[in-house]
Amino acid sequence: MSVDILFTPIVLGALKLPNRIVMPALTRMRAGPGGVPTALNAEYYAQRASAGLNITEATAISVQGHGYPNMPGIHSAAQVAGWHAVTDAVHECGGRIVQQIVHHGRWSHSSYNPDGSLPVAPSAITPPGHAYTAQSAQVPYETPRALETSELPFIVATFRQAARNAIEAGFDAVEVHGANGFLLDQFLQDGSNHRTDEYGGSIENRSRLLLEVMDGISNDIGSDRLAVRLSPHGNLGGLSDSATIPHFNYVITELSKRRLAYLHLIEPRASSAGIADDASVDSADNASLFRGLFAGPVVTAGGYTAPTGAQTISSGLADAVAFGRMFIANPDLVERIRKSAPLNVFDRATSYGGGARGYTDYPRLMELADAE
Ligand SMILES: Cc1cc2nc3c(=O)[nH]c(=O)nc-3n(C[C@H](O)[C@H](O)[C@H](O)COP(=O)(O)O)c2cc1C
Repeated sequence: MSVDILFTPIVLGALKLPNRIVMPALTRMRAGPGGVPTALNAEYYAQRASAGLNITEATAISVQGHGYPNMPGIHSAAQVAGWHAVTDAVHECGGRIVQQIVHHGRWSHSSYNPDGSLPVAPSAITPPGHAYTAQSAQVPYETPRALETSELPFIVATFRQAARNAIEAGFDAVEVHGANGFLLDQFLQDGSNHRTDEYGGSIENRSRLLLEVMDGISNDIGSDRLAVRLSPHGNLGGLSDSATIPHFNYVITELSKRRLAYLHLIEPRASSAGIADDASVDSADNASLFRGLFAGPVVTAGGYTAPTGAQTISSGLADAVAFGRMFIANPDLVERIRKSAPLNVFDRATSYGGGARGYTDYPRLMELADAE
């Protein structure tokens, strides 16, 4: 299968991509104190600026929205300044960069809140597994506090402020994280949302918070600079839905009306945030199921190789393809795909936390050639 189609330009809303090879959001837990991006973070993103599009790691919209140690935020002036150095570095290398914004909801821990208050969620249901505290200890998840209906406008306002901050920091667009079991996904899926107000129960009600967030941000920064990521059939964070297909049919049909820059779908075969190595997690194919419902561009992610990604674009199931682990290990992934060159192998052990090792020291082809 020729991979030439990956090298054809594509327009995603206000973004003009020279190729269809996308670096998706990849949490690396290497921000500086206070969730402020550092010069090392700028170097990492700049190394990968030849991607058609760079998307940042999930970045917290508020103190309450943090959920991993050394996760960056976009809610303080210092964070905006730190991110500006990142966007400048990527733009100087000729790239485009989008900020993914998130609230961790029940996946957070009280240690992130200065007053020690509990994490918040749609319902007081304890997720399975372990949280990382702000001090990097692994502890069982706490039972979150269910958000009051009267607090939800504040959650929407916080997402809006974070998106405005991202634009101030020089980002080309914002991707709302509605996937992988974080707060907005917790509202979408009925395994985690047992509410009885207008944000729970029916499919329409459970979609309300996400759509309010999208409409608010769209009003502030323009729908052509706004995107969303969803993971139907994903089970991260213990999420589940009793009627995934009708539910996401509704959500995606509604999102389609909003004329967004793109819809980013994660395939369940790369569930566990792409940490699963096998392709057997779930046989559902989200691109096949949902692409037809979305009028704008679709980016797809999850276990692709260059040939399978090119095939998916050729068959009309997506417009661009994201490569997660391959981009971690190959800063010059675009060049390697173009030349059909061998790939560096992803080192799982250095995924989360630490310094330059496993972050900015994966060699480029050029460096490998010099070493020979
Ligand atoms: C180390 C790591 C961190 C990730 N962090 C995020 C994240 O912050 N936000 C997100 O939406 N997805 C995240 N993902 C999922 C990836 O964006 C991508 O969807 C997944 O890796 C599947 O693509 P792949 O099979 O090409 O790796 C992460 C994946 C990995 C491996």
